[in-house]
Amino acid sequence: MRSRIALVVISCFLSIAMGIFISRGRQAGPVPAGDDEVLVGLSMDTLKEARWQKDKKFFVEKVRSLGAEVLVQAANSDDTIQVKNVEALISRGVDVLVVVPHNGKAMAKAVRLAHRAGIPVIAYDRLIMDSDLDLYITFDGFKVGQMQARYIVEEVLGDEQNIRIVRIYGSKMDHNAFLFKAGQDDVLEPYIKSGRIEVIHEDWAEDWKPESAKKIVNAAITNHGRDFDAILASNDGTAGGAIQTLKEEGLTGKVAVTGQDAELIACQRIVDGTQAMTIYKPIKDLAYKAAETAVKMARGRPVIAGDGVDNGKVEVPSVLLDVVVVTGENLDETVIADGFHSREEVYR
Ligand code: BGC
Repeated sequence: MRSRIALVVISCFLSIAMGIFISRGRQAGPVPAGDDEVLVGLSMDTLKEARWQKDKKFFVEKVRSLGAEVLVQAANSDDTIQVKNVEALISRGVDVLVVVPHNGKAMAKAVRLAHRAGIPVIAYDRLIMDSDLDLYITFDGFKVGQMQARYIVEEVLGDEQNIRIVRIYGSKMDHNAFLFKAGQDDVLEPYIKSGRIEVIHEDWAEDWKPESAKKIVNAAITNHGRDFDAILASNDGTAGGAIQTLKEEGLTGKVAVTGQDAELIACQRIVDGTQAMTIYKPIKDLAYKAAETAVKMARGRPVIAGDGVDNGKVEVPSVLLDVVVVTGENLDETVIADGFHSREEVYR
């Protein structure tokens, strides 16, 4: 799925290809946009989760510090709205489009629309499938899944004979959800085969919603009882929903719950002992890298990508950033040391 490719100088090609396109198709000024007049479009799935508010804040801050302007739209987890948002950004004359897709397949249309107008497209955090996407900037999702599962194996199974777990996957619309699952499967499979880990219940959370995760854990309890050891939740939002049910059942702290995003509320739950771990994704690095790259592309400067990811149509030049496991042991050295959250906020 993912391959290491030679360093790719993307925008040399792009500025030639797009230049021809743009001079034919767009009303905005000459291409490249030039240092003064760059306008970046950011189309987001949602701003309803804490992490995406951080992404937006850092992205906008960096674009502006580079002397460019940015327009941001959020689609409230609705594909029709996200396509409309993209159309609006294109007609406002953006020079480059950055997209966090709600639905990685549906947003292939956004790539087609942007390209028709001569605008390059960067997928941010989540892949856009089956399209001629120009660049993909993200965290290593497979590794996120491996780390979550490794926590279960090392800290929950440990020397036990066997354990029972519930698995909560993310949104089926989001390619990342499949990557996280694939990374988890990679670690869990031998233990599942040998019977040391029994998955008593598993399901996909609709649109990554906490309420959906809550229902999944309710169903697990209704069908299989309260005797299980861990919930492998794919992110902090779904972990939060799962923990709600555990609270109602008096099981918090008895069942280990994983997460991802190092949201403040999740870090607080780690301190309280209701969540076992999360994954810290340095969002500032991602947002800054994407902002710098977007502005470079718009200015026709070379952009380097060290990886390649197959999106079903092309090998998309990709940048994959690293992630860190966070537990009660290393909150201080990770999220707090990085200024992601303050000590006061985390420990209240
Ligand atoms: C992101 C996660 C996030 C999830 C829900 C995924 O695509 O990679 O960080 O928790 O979406 O928004």
